[in-house]
Amino acid sequence: MREVEIAPTFEDWRQAARELLLHDIPPDEVVWVDASSHDPSRLDFDKTARPSPGGPKSPLISVPKSFVDLARRVAEHHDPARWSILYRLLWRLVHENRDLLRVATDPDVAAAARMGRSATQGAEGPSAMGQPPQLEPDAAIAAAFLPTDLSLPALREAAARCTGCALYKTATQTVFGMGPTEARVMFIGEQPGDQEDLAGAPFVGPAGEVLTRALAEVGIWRHEVYITNAVKHFKWEPRGKRRIHMTPRLQEIQACRPWLEAEIETIKPSMIVCLGATAAQSLMGPQFRVMRNRGRAFQTRWAPWLMATIHPSAILRIDDPAAQEQAYADLVADLRIVAVRLEEERRSKTLGELPPAAEK
Ligand code: URA
Repeated sequence: MREVEIAPTFEDWRQAARELLLHDIPPDEVVWVDASSHDPSRLDFDKTARPSPGGPKSPLISVPKSFVDLARRVAEHHDPARWSILYRLLWRLVHENRDLLRVATDPDVAAAARMGRSATQGAEGPSAMGQPPQLEPDAAIAAAFLPTDLSLPALREAAARCTGCALYKTATQTVFGMGPTEARVMFIGEQPGDQEDLAGAPFVGPAGEVLTRALAEVGIWRHEVYITNAVKHFKWEPRGKRRIHMTPRLQEIQACRPWLEAEIETIKPSMIVCLGATAAQSLMGPQFRVMRNRGRAFQTRWAPWLMATIHPSAILRIDDPAAQEQAYADLVADLRIVAVRLEEERRSKTLGELPPAAEK
């Protein structure tokens, strides 16, 4: 163990963390000590426990800008654990997963996000009057709005205040997922449409009608499943008096991912059905092709069984009645696979008896 004394500032932590990282010193070997808490007048604190500047490796350490932004905010917090959480995050970003900040349910990410949020709110002071902080779009920023309690009511309430990307500015409200916490199947669409934006509920417009009808045909009742969207705000552009749907950008999908992950973490569905490319790519990556993979089940870290199919709105956009009918029949066929699996699960009662899908 080595004690590393720093002045309680982002800059000093960054310098020390950089030196530690360059010398390959893992987080569990470091104890961070706030020099000002020892003796506030002592600014020339001893840094001998730090490795000497300039490590044996390349001095280039590249981390996402979102981490630097988050770390700056976390540094403003008063919790003494903030320095070790930040260093652990930095270490893991470099050694484990550069996309770590997107894993909103990771304990380190969640802790940093919470500290970053309360530090920002504190900095804004009483004048903020409960207004969410105005921040740059980023998954780490949306994650900062996540509540400590990952129950559906708490998530829904917190999501209503999310300003993690710019879409909240033009939407009427956040449209959070709906369904029972104990749902075994989670359906994920793209984003709320015009009617969903006004009603504050997912899939209640024309696409929702198609989905509800197709589900009923295979014996799945809407109220027994959880239905949500990859993006929780309606993205639109005006055309005359109408609001025309616009496809969300990758950055917006990623910004909203902490909410989707938190829903998955809370519900722990045994089956996930992605409706359309946005939902599928949000969880399976941008290379995933729905038309190539529809109806196939994948074992994923999100659920032991994940399947993608076409989005009900795609059916509504088909002009030719015969082609539309065929597309609807294909959707029903895909949903029947879900229904069969759901029935098997009901019968086997214990999920462990069911084989997982093929590894992804
Ligand atoms: N399309 C979606 O993807 N989601 C909705 O909630 C409505 C339409």
